[in-house]
Amino acid sequence: MIVAQNVPLQPYNTFGIVAKARALVRVASADDVRAVLADPVLGREPKFVLGGGSNIVLTGDVRPVVLKVEVMGRRLVESTPKAWIVEAGAGENWHDFVTWTLAQGCPGLENLALIPGTVGASPVQNVGAYGVELQDRFDSLDAIDLETGQSFTLDAAQCAFGYRDSVFKHVAPASVAPDGPVRGLGLAGRALITQVRFRLPRPWKPVLGYLDLERRMQDSGIRNPSAQQIYDWVCAIRSSKLPDPRVIGNAGSFFKNPTVTPEQCSDIIAREPGIVHYPMPDGSVKLAAGWLIDACGWKGKSVGNAGVYDRQALVLVNRGGAQNPATGGEVMTLAKAIQTSVYERFGIRLEPEPVVV
Ligand code: EPU
Repeated sequence: MIVAQNVPLQPYNTFGIVAKARALVRVASADDVRAVLADPVLGREPKFVLGGGSNIVLTGDVRPVVLKVEVMGRRLVESTPKAWIVEAGAGENWHDFVTWTLAQGCPGLENLALIPGTVGASPVQNVGAYGVELQDRFDSLDAIDLETGQSFTLDAAQCAFGYRDSVFKHVAPASVAPDGPVRGLGLAGRALITQVRFRLPRPWKPVLGYLDLERRMQDSGIRNPSAQQIYDWVCAIRSSKLPDPRVIGNAGSFFKNPTVTPEQCSDIIAREPGIVHYPMPDGSVKLAAGWLIDACGWKGKSVGNAGVYDRQALVLVNRGGAQNPATGGEVMTLAKAIQTSVYERFGIRLEPEPVVV
């Protein structure tokens, strides 16, 4: 086990924020994690699990021991008449994994192409795009309890997926004994995901219906797109409206799309007829946070080197590049100013999507 001290984290977060890890250990297997837990010094210290760093805002140096997840491997576990089950190590790059599944002849993840980050982070925020959420294709995952070192497996119900939400984003109630069973309770800070398995239904059916994809179908005249065609469209759509983190630092959508009651929505529509909204199956109405922020005039604005992307107001970006990057403080000041102005105009509280460290 190699413990690196004072490690710069700028290359390991897609915002490109400067911060250091006091101690960082690369973990490539469950045994590596158990070795850290068994260490007389590191074992006792708080831990921070780092995946692709695509959904975090670093606001200072990280004091807990950083476990950088580098568990690799991809395989077709099982092929039945009803589904392909594919598995990937948590450290695999998400987009490369999606590309690999298509190359193996196992479609189903194409709508989720080009999402930054790692496979292990994908269930944490239940990534979603263009009409598909991870939970729609999830089978199970393996993880290690960072208190006890025990491995465990969770199915979809145990992951308690919600919109950009899961059991991994919630802290267990204080009444739960630290060495007690953890399944089904909040696992934030407590679990390190090592492998994720996906169930890709057979026969494959395209998921279209999302406005941007419908437009591509109309423009191209292709009525029955293949999975590869949808993958190509999704990559083109994302590249046209979302900044590539390798070029402009960002963490994807910075806020969740808020939901309101139909009554609240009618009230807002009466004042703001143009508001983009989608009725949800449970009767609530989801509002486009990007539209709300845009309507408040934030597109292109900045606080220091943190800015609002000029093609999609839901994305905050690092305008200073690697040389003069935005600080986590600037990003959070900008985020709070946006929250205040959206609240003052619409009475809606926007909830940040990334984890603030
Ligand atoms: N809009 C504006 N101005 C803006 C941004 C958006 O008017 O500056 C309007 C758009 O015109 C559109 C609506 O808002 O009518 C929704 O915009 P878009 O289709 O770009 O999707 P989104 O709701 O902003 C969500 C996800 C994205 C995902 C896309 C596609 C969240 C928080 N974001 O964005 O996910 O890629 O849908 O499915 O749910 C991410 O989570 O990091 C992410 C990029």
